[in-house]
Order: sequence, then structure tokens, then C-alpha cells
Amino acid sequence: MRLSVMALLFAASVASAQDAEPSRTLTPGKGAELATARCVICHDAQHITRTKLSRGEWEFNIKNMIERGAPIAPNEIAPILEYLSTYYNRDVAAPAPTAAATGGDPVANLLNANACTACHQVDKRVVGPSFKEVAAKYAGDNTAVGKLVTKIRQGGSGVWGASPMPPNAAVADADLQQLVGWILQQK
Ligand code: HEC
Ligand code: HEC
Repeated sequence: MRLSVMALLFAASVASAQDAEPSRTLTPGKGAELATARCVICHDAQHITRTKLSRGEWEFNIKNMIERGAPIAPNEIAPILEYLSTYYNRDVAAPAPTAAATGGDPVANLLNANACTACHQVDKRVVGPSFKEVAAKYAGDNTAVGKLVTKIRQGGSGVWGASPMPPNAAVADADLQQLVGWILQQK
């Protein structure tokens, strides 16, 4: 109980520090979303980004953080360890950014992190419509943002064909707004 109050206080002070310095995020890559969700709660990401450890030391660190109250399920330890020891390893250089882990572009990161890119491209129809088609269809529709945010969150079919879009319930509202705003600008 005391710990969770402390965690809240930490989180509040960290949130304002992050506003001033938005670049304090973990390197994009496989597992970055999970590590961010579980590790950037009590302290900011710089606790991690300034630390380079061996794989064994990260394993120890994760156990230590769980003892301090980090809400990490047993099956989440392996992917978080894999992520940390890939991108913040003292002994092995981090991989160069790839198309799936595109450096600083926040929209590209959101699209990749939420697997939108598995079904959508900007100017080519894959499983779902291209983002250019979507922008053209909703041009001049000033209710489009709200409609599309709801549609992406809940999933659905029938607008572009029979293939359904599965629900994307875990994406934060602010992220969806940002994504939809960007999609509607693809002309
Ligand atoms: C419940 C709160 C909490 C969570 C969640 C948490 N930590 Fe920590 N962490 C702490 C506390 C408390 C310290 C020690 C005090 C400090 O350095 O601010 C710490 C310190 C650290 C340090 C040492 C930082 C330094 O610069 O010396 C690292 C590295 C670290 N944490 C990584 C992680 C990782 C990786 C995760 C996710 C697996 C994580 N933390 C999740 C509470 C937490
Ligand atoms: C598994 C494949 C899949 C994934 C993952 C996916 N989509 Fe879709 N998406 C579709 C399909 C299929 C449609 C067409 C649905 C229809 O016809 O109503 C669609 C439709 C859309 C539309 C247009 C909706 C409309 O009603 O006109 C938008 C915008 C969109 N997706 C954005 C996203 C975003 C953003 C993400 C990631 C958060 C995402 N999609 C993830 C398959 C996917």
C-alpha cells in the first residue's frame, strides 16, 4: 500500500519532467512497448537508457524491480529481458534501427508498435485499405476523426470489403487521435 502511494508520487513527478523532455523514451524495437508499460512507471526511461548491463545483470535488475513493486507477470519477464539485453547490453552493440523500429518518428513508431503496418500501407492496399484511400474517402467529413477512432478501437468490416479489422482495444486514446489525424493527411 505504501509502495503504491510512493509509486504514484514518483509517477506524478516523472510525468512533469517528461513533458519538458519528450525524448526520454526507450529505443523502439521488439518488446519496447511492453518494457515501457511495465518499467516507465516509478521512474523515467532515462533510468534505463543511461544503463548498460549484461544479460545476467538485467535479469537480476528485473527481479529487483519486481521486488520493489513493478507489476510484471511471470510470462512477461522473458520478453522484457530479451528487449533490455538487446538494446541496453554492455557486451553487445544495439542493432541498427530497422523499418520495424523507426527511430524518432512518433507516428511510424505507433503504427509499428500496434501492428497497423501488418495490414495497412500508405499507398497500397494490403489486408486493409491504404491510408491514402482512407484520407480520400473521408475528405471534408468533419466527423471522421471520431468515427475512425471508434472504428479502429472496436474493429469491424463492411466499409472496404468483407475482411474485418480486429479490435485494437489496447491503443491509448491520445495515440489513436494522433494516428487518425495523420492518416487523414495522406493525400
Ligand atoms: C514499482 C516501481 C518501479 C518499477 C515499476 C520499476 N522500477 Fe526501476 N527502480 C525503482 C526504484 C525505487 C529504484 C531505485 C531508486 C532510483 O534509482 O530512483 C529503481 C532503479 C532502477 C535502475 C537503476 C537506475 C540508476 O540509474 O541507477 C534501473 C536500471 C531500473 N530501475 C530499471 C527498471 C526496469 C528495467 C524496470 C522494468 C523491468 C523498472 N526499473 C521498473 C522502482 C521501479
Ligand atoms: C489484421 C489486419 C488489420 C490491422 C492489424 C489493422 N487494420 Fe485497420 N483495417 C483492416 C481492414 C480489413 C479494414 C477494412 C474494414 C472495413 O471494411 O470496414 C481496416 C480499416 C481501417 C480504417 C478505415 C476504417 C473505415 O471504416 O473506413 C482505418 C483508418 C484503419 N483501418 C486504421 C488502422 C490502424 C491505425 C491500425 C493500428 C492501430 C489498424 N488499422 C490495424 C485491417 C487491419
